[in-house]
Amino acid sequence: MPELADLFAARARNVPPPIFSPDAPGTVPTISLAWGLADPALFPRAALLSATAEVLEKDAPAALNYGATYSGLIEQIVARLRASGVAAQPEQVLVGHGSSQILALLPEVLVDRGDVVLIEGPSFMGAVRRFAQAGAQLVTVPTDAHGLDTDALATILRDLRRHNKRPKFLYTIPTFHNPTGATLSLERRHALVALAAEYGVLVVEDDAYYDLRFEGEPLPPLAALDRDGWVMRVGTFSKTLAPGLRMGWACARPEIIQRLQMFKWEGSSGPFMTRLVARFCADGQLDAHIAALNTHYRHKRDVMLDAIAQHCPADVQVDRPAGGFFVWLRLPPDLHAAAVQQAASEQGVAFVPGTACYADGQGTDTLRLAFSFQPVEQIEAGVARLGAAMHALRQHRAAR
Ligand SMILES: Cc1ncc(COP(=O)(O)O)c(C=O)c1O
Repeated sequence: MPELADLFAARARNVPPPIFSPDAPGTVPTISLAWGLADPALFPRAALLSATAEVLEKDAPAALNYGATYSGLIEQIVARLRASGVAAQPEQVLVGHGSSQILALLPEVLVDRGDVVLIEGPSFMGAVRRFAQAGAQLVTVPTDAHGLDTDALATILRDLRRHNKRPKFLYTIPTFHNPTGATLSLERRHALVALAAEYGVLVVEDDAYYDLRFEGEPLPPLAALDRDGWVMRVGTFSKTLAPGLRMGWACARPEIIQRLQMFKWEGSSGPFMTRLVARFCADGQLDAHIAALNTHYRHKRDVMLDAIAQHCPADVQVDRPAGGFFVWLRLPPDLHAAAVQQAASEQGVAFVPGTACYADGQGTDTLRLAFSFQPVEQIEAGVARLGAAMHALRQHRAAR
């Protein structure tokens, strides 16, 4: 009997299993602090409903047909880019079904099997998986509390050049990093842009959380500092509006945008959704919504940090992210994330183990918690369960 699995392409044969499985019957229902989902309490349902009606009333023939990407949304994106200091032109913008679609297309255009791609350690696990699946040789650049370590990057670039290797791109999340929450300092932003120009490295600046700033002044995007066209800025409406709309974008040199567009064969990114999002963004409505989100998410971050201080062992280290969705925990040497994950699942709480965010197996002593999705009571209860799991592991060890 021929096997269906024999038809799978080599890249599809060894896909990693999902990180989580559903609750087994009879276990404590899990409070998931794992995924960076948006808080449904804040979806602007009434405004989206009236924007939907308006699009259908005024623009149905175009909104409901096939068609090129709606220029009104591109104009909104360009205006927002310019407001953040990026001298964008409409022909530099590509709209995608979420920024994930654009990140998934990148290796189609840039990566042949074995090409070097530079990625932060840790990084967004979706991107880590996608670039690895595409056959890239992922080289990890370390990060710290101030983001990507640009001195380490300089050394890596020098070594690669010595071996006649030019990386295809560097993928970085400069603001309220997923998973660490760190923000790249201004000094390092300048250093990174200078290195990109010196080595001709395309920097993919994924700034998904840029607008979710709870305190402090915004830093210039890398694309605003770049004078030589080596930065591709990627953004999304998922964090500021609603992920279900699947609306993201990239801004880069037109040569790259045109190539990406060729691989995005359905063309338009949704004539209806693009008009809906553009309608919502108009008249300052998106900015007002972002201000409300930041008040709400700031409170949730504080609830999570307070709960960690109260319930987790004192030698668990945590930084205070100034925005975004995530808190990153560094565990003491005797607590491994895999063991904590097992104990936590028995207590009924889930998180992302740090190893899922690295391309090279690092991160066994780290884990990511999302404060974005759960209501505050669940954040408190979830972190209390996590703390209980950590204390139980230690007691168990001490008793042996
Ligand atoms: C850093 C980063 N980039 C991109 C995405 C993907 O966002 P979307 O495809 O919804 O635009 C996420 C989502 O979690 C993310 O954290």
